[in-house]
Amino acid sequence: MAYKIAIIVGSLRQGSINKKVARSMCAIRGDNLDCSIVEIGDLPLYNQDLDANPPEQYVRFRKEVGEADGVLFVSPEYNRGIPGVLKNAIDVGSRPYGQSVFDKKPAAIVTASPGSIGGFGANHQIRQAAVFLNMPVMAQPEAYLGHVSDDSFDADGRLKEGPLKDIVTTLAHAFHDWVEMILRSRELLLEDSAHRSKQKEHA
Ligand SMILES: Cc1cc2nc3c(=O)[nH]c(=O)nc-3n(C[C@H](O)[C@H](O)[C@H](O)COP(=O)(O)O)c2cc1C
Repeated sequence: MAYKIAIIVGSLRQGSINKKVARSMCAIRGDNLDCSIVEIGDLPLYNQDLDANPPEQYVRFRKEVGEADGVLFVSPEYNRGIPGVLKNAIDVGSRPYGQSVFDKKPAAIVTASPGSIGGFGANHQIRQAAVFLNMPVMAQPEAYLGHVSDDSFDADGRLKEGPLKDIVTTLAHAFHDWVEMILRSRELLLEDSAHRSKQKEHA
């Protein structure tokens, strides 16, 4: 079974290393993860007034994330925090109140940087928002990918063999298993609750 994954990348840059990491991670589990990068660069800055008649970009973004089974955030760190474009996208998807498209969706957060801290600050700011939005966020393995550069990829944008590819491979398997565990557990709970309701009816 292939799970539909919305990838949200916190960099708009054409040659983004984070985009390449995201694509590589999905390619590794291409058998079971059906991934698409959701565009966030065209989203107008979130303004609650717009929700009365939302712009088409909000509608499209909310639909694409809403239809996914899980969300993979892959982002750089900007000034030790979450890039503004990504925070804006999270805000857009989280509203109107009570209609967040992130609610209950299993997620993972990966940050990549040429620096040695691997986007730790951004990673935890994204995590804070995701946890608040009621997303079950994969805790392990943690994914602060440091020393990532254009050199980490071949001419086709695929990860070269080496320790980084090994880590991303581990992450890809762990994320697949995480999504499966959350979605299957939910199905079992729903089945169990339906079974109990039937039992009550017949009691
Ligand atoms: C505005 C700005 C702020 C940055 N701040 C940080 C930072 O706090 N920590 C870090 O590791 N790298 C920082 N960088 C460097 C980025 O990690 C680097 O440009 C990276 O390649 C961006 O990711 P991308 O290739 O996916 O666009 C910053 C870059 C920019 C443009």
